[in-house]
Amino acid sequence: MEEIRVFCPATIANISCGFDVLGVALDAVGDEMVVRKIPEKGIIITKIEGQELPLVTEKNVAGVAGLALLKQSNYEGGFEIEIYKKIKAGSGIGSSAASSTGAVWAMNELLGKPFTTLDLVKFSMEGERLASGVAHADNVAPALFGGFTLVRSYSPLDVIAMPSPQALYATVIHPQIEVKTADSRKVLKTNITLADGIKQWGNVGGLVAGLYTSDYDLIGRSLIDHIVEPIRSILIPGFNDVKKSAEKAGALGCGISGSGPSIFSFSKGEETAQKVALSMKKVYQTIGIEYDVHVSKINTEGIKKVS
Ligand code: HSE
Repeated sequence: MEEIRVFCPATIANISCGFDVLGVALDAVGDEMVVRKIPEKGIIITKIEGQELPLVTEKNVAGVAGLALLKQSNYEGGFEIEIYKKIKAGSGIGSSAASSTGAVWAMNELLGKPFTTLDLVKFSMEGERLASGVAHADNVAPALFGGFTLVRSYSPLDVIAMPSPQALYATVIHPQIEVKTADSRKVLKTNITLADGIKQWGNVGGLVAGLYTSDYDLIGRSLIDHIVEPIRSILIPGFNDVKKSAEKAGALGCGISGSGPSIFSFSKGEETAQKVALSMKKVYQTIGIEYDVHVSKINTEGIKKVS
């Protein structure tokens, strides 16, 4: 195989209680990339459609993640990349993760899969380091493994792929403002109280247990963030109203998607997820802020080849 076209899913990181450790892949929104082998060593980005992003390899997350892979490979040639962006940069649904994971997943396929999925997570984290200053894995892991993932440890890297309850749907609304992950990390405190820690890890455990047992109420009860949301939500206009209206419309729970400004909620069943979308939209229509909305099943397979 000389060339491959791939679908790279959007992702929701943190999932309220799991800052930097929990994430999930979405089905309904994602980018496409074409990667082809070239005889010259290195990586060239020849085309980016849909977003204004750098073509220079070292300044592009896909380029940087790809270079990390090439460094560990004995392949003598290189790759050419075309990126077709549907996920907006700075939206909070894993735009940079989609590009970096798509690049390395495609390259691994073209090379005959010499690397494990965990290796690909490590290469993609270099893209995240470029985008946000921190090599977090909570977007790249679900994009590569599919479904829900838990980063149990960063050093050594240990990622656990978890089950996705069948009827679980995500609704994501993206108010059209850009919040850079690097900026929304700077506003966070570096210390937490023991009391907040106790509440937070109770919810992480609850969410994981809920995913394994398809206990939708337990998932909903666990979607609480005592540490990051109270600070970051100040950066998102209408956040509290969107959350209240989503929960009133039947959502299991609601929180900030990744570093925002997108807001996500989970629902049991598509019908409720659509009702939640309507309720979230109404808030932004009232405030007068443009938005995009996605209602999505959980993507359980991660990045995939498209024809
Ligand atoms: N865990 C990261 C953060 C995700 O919240 O900063 C960024 O999408």
